[in-house]
Amino acid sequence: MSGFSPKFKETWQRNIDGETTEGKYTLRAITRDASSPAAQKLKTQGVETVQADASDIDSLKTALAGAYTVFAMTLSIYDSQLKAREVAQGRNMADAAVSAGAQYLIFSTLPHVTRISGGRYTHVAPFDNKAEVELYMRSLPIKAAFFNPGAFMQSFHGALAPRPVGDGTFVIASSASKETQFSLLDPVADSGKYVGAILASPGMFEGKQLCAAENQYSLEEIVALMSRVSGKTVRYVQVEESVFRDFLPPNGKDIYSELMLYYQDFGYFGPESKELSAWARQYARGKLTSFEEFLKNHPLSSLEG
Ligand SMILES: NC(=O)c1ccc[n+]([C@@H]2O[C@H](COP(=O)([O-])OP(=O)(O)OC[C@H]3O[C@@H](n4cnc5c(N)ncnc54)[C@H](OP(=O)(O)O)[C@@H]3O)[C@@H](O)[C@H]2O)c1
Repeated sequence: MSGFSPKFKETWQRNIDGETTEGKYTLRAITRDASSPAAQKLKTQGVETVQADASDIDSLKTALAGAYTVFAMTLSIYDSQLKAREVAQGRNMADAAVSAGAQYLIFSTLPHVTRISGGRYTHVAPFDNKAEVELYMRSLPIKAAFFNPGAFMQSFHGALAPRPVGDGTFVIASSASKETQFSLLDPVADSGKYVGAILASPGMFEGKQLCAAENQYSLEEIVALMSRVSGKTVRYVQVEESVFRDFLPPNGKDIYSELMLYYQDFGYFGPESKELSAWARQYARGKLTSFEEFLKNHPLSSLEG
């Protein structure tokens, strides 16, 4: 089994133990640098690490030799090659898996925003790219299942962190209404609970998508939980789209302003977000992390001081 992210690597190690200790699977992780501290740490945990680059299909074919199941994820890099690179890397992983004779592919996908929005939002490339790779994988002669992770709770430590407004209170601002629902997941703690379910019953999930979220939270509920857990006042403020765009980095203006409006108008996984995530949740192996638990376990540093 091969994969591409420290977040996912950590959670597999914790959550698919049942499958590995029964001798069903051994783990092999792909990295561009097998001498990196992250790769070395995996080695000490009994994971074989091999070097490959998703842009180099031959390196992938070599790295995947003998693999039974391939877990693949792609990375979005916000430059002029965003779409071409991510789609090509995803296709390379799929083609290499088929060529290496793997039996099963698990891909970390995302919703097709352009299709779900009926063409209203066409700039959310990090989502559409993965959905395009999923469509390509579905056309190949290999069994596949799709892990569709919700918005990462960790985002509130980064791009969506509350900002001080100078009077001791904090604000999260965007162009979406306060009722806008986020489907939230702690991918470090909980991705493996879904991927482990697929590994345990691959036939049952063949062709299926697991929309992985602990729950739906409105922006209003999100700031209320932040206030309750931290003891600070955190408010949500809806601003004009042009104002929100001013706060976004140049490469992310179209992507993030459309993404927030997509969440508002259609929901993270589309109009059926609640039902889709409830269906997948019944198969998650173990209790999922609530947003309140996440905030307690990982206090928001932007609220300190
Ligand atoms: N933020 C959210 O709310 C959210 C929600 C759902 C999905 N996502 C998606 O999740 C993905 C980011 O995941 P993450 O945060 O787990 O990423 P991450 O922690 O930055 O890990 C990315 C990994 O990809 C590997 N990698 C990068 N380029 C590679 C290449 N050319 N060949 C082989 N490996 C390569 C790197 O491994 P080495 O350095 O070891 O080579 C790195 O460990 C993005 O695609 C994003 O769209 C994000």
